[in-house]
Amino acid sequence: MSFIEINNLSKTYYSGEQKISAISDVNITIDRNDFVSVTGASGSGKSTLLSLLGGLNIPSSGNIIIDGINVFSLSSNQIAKLRREYIGFVFQSFYLINYLTVEENILLPLSITDYNSSQQKFKLDKILERVGLSDKKGRLVDELSGGEQQRVAIARAIINDPVIILADEPTGNLDSSTGNQILDLFEELNKDGKLVIVVTHDDNVKKRTSNVIVFRDGRVEQ
Ligand SMILES: Nc1ncnc2c1ncn2[C@@H]1O[C@H](COP(=O)(O)OP(=O)(O)OP(=O)(O)O)[C@@H](O)[C@H]1O
Ligand SMILES: [Mg+2]
Repeated sequence: MSFIEINNLSKTYYSGEQKISAISDVNITIDRNDFVSVTGASGSGKSTLLSLLGGLNIPSSGNIIIDGINVFSLSSNQIAKLRREYIGFVFQSFYLINYLTVEENILLPLSITDYNSSQQKFKLDKILERVGLSDKKGRLVDELSGGEQQRVAIARAIINDPVIILADEPTGNLDSSTGNQILDLFEELNKDGKLVIVVTHDDNVKKRTSNVIVFRDGRVEQ
């Protein structure tokens, strides 16, 4: 059994009279140590797949099994718990809170956990070192470059030590050299044992991943 199994997954959106098959009968297996890229034209279903994998969206049919857990057989509270324990999200447009500092942004996910402040500080310092932002801890994220902001977002995604990192166009707003630094970081995280799944249009990203999944009109092409 693979770590992630996506079985006959479909997602249909209804917008007014229109029926949109965003994902149609998709089957994918992903192993614990994979570094996966998901590519395909705009509108082919990549972000929909990622939102389903992260339990942010519910399929129309089919299922996703993560580490033996049938995600959509769970209650919404249980899905939220699974998400907190297993998954870190990174997006193209960072979604940081601009008026908070680097430190405050990274610690946000811990606000709903039981870690005390010295445990939080320990985790924070380790993560800041990991993403190369130890000297920027007290800065407002507004004052950082795009690449630095994305590293804050990655730090926030991994502060709970998730097994899976889901990233939707994480280098889309960055120039190519800054984007490459972000990829280096994902590669290191994958070597450290995280399963990384990156949605991307970027050929540089594809080249560096262990598996490439190509979407076309909601179906997997290869
Ligand atoms: N909430 C929604 N309601 C209705 N239709 C949606 C919704 N989200 C996505 N869609 C439609 O589903 C299809 C797949 O969208 P999705 O966002 O998954 O594509 P994508 O591959 O991520 O595209 P892009 O590369 O542009 O980000 C598109 O036709 C899109 O318009
Ligand atoms: Mg998308």
